[in-house]
Amino acid sequence: MSKDIEQILKKYKPGRREELIPILQEVQDENGLLSEEAIIRVGKYMGLSTTKIYGLATFYDQFRFLPAGKITITVCNGTSCFLNGSQAVISAIREATGLSEGQTSRDGSLSYEVVTCMGGCNNGPVVRINDEYSTRVKPEQIPALIKKLRFIIEND
Ligand code: FES
Repeated sequence: MSKDIEQILKKYKPGRREELIPILQEVQDENGLLSEEAIIRVGKYMGLSTTKIYGLATFYDQFRFLPAGKITITVCNGTSCFLNGSQAVISAIREATGLSEGQTSRDGSLSYEVVTCMGGCNNGPVVRINDEYSTRVKPEQIPALIKKLRFIIEND
């Protein structure tokens, strides 16, 4: 068991369910993801079943259960982005990468996620590549973008 999880749990009172999300956020910040082991440990501490924790955590976009790829492409599909055409961007990414939402490529190079808002609602669809944001993204830009990312990954 990771020592870090124990240190995080110590800061919270056991069984206080309203603190579950902050705990999970801290565990993920520390470890980059929520591993099965971490969820079991948090569940024991909070008196919640693993299924219940998964159920709650999957409700929030920010939690990930598998390691992220070297490069993560995140697309917003919130209401504003949806109205501005995010579905077409999502389809183009799926086509260009072969990945579905929440998946990482087998070689671990690319992850693809869909979220419900990135705070740029007036300029959607918004796409984030690791920490870099692009606004008003058009589906026709996606193939070239993915090609560029693959080139970066291969030459890194
Ligand atoms: S809805 Fe897409 S950035 Fe807010």
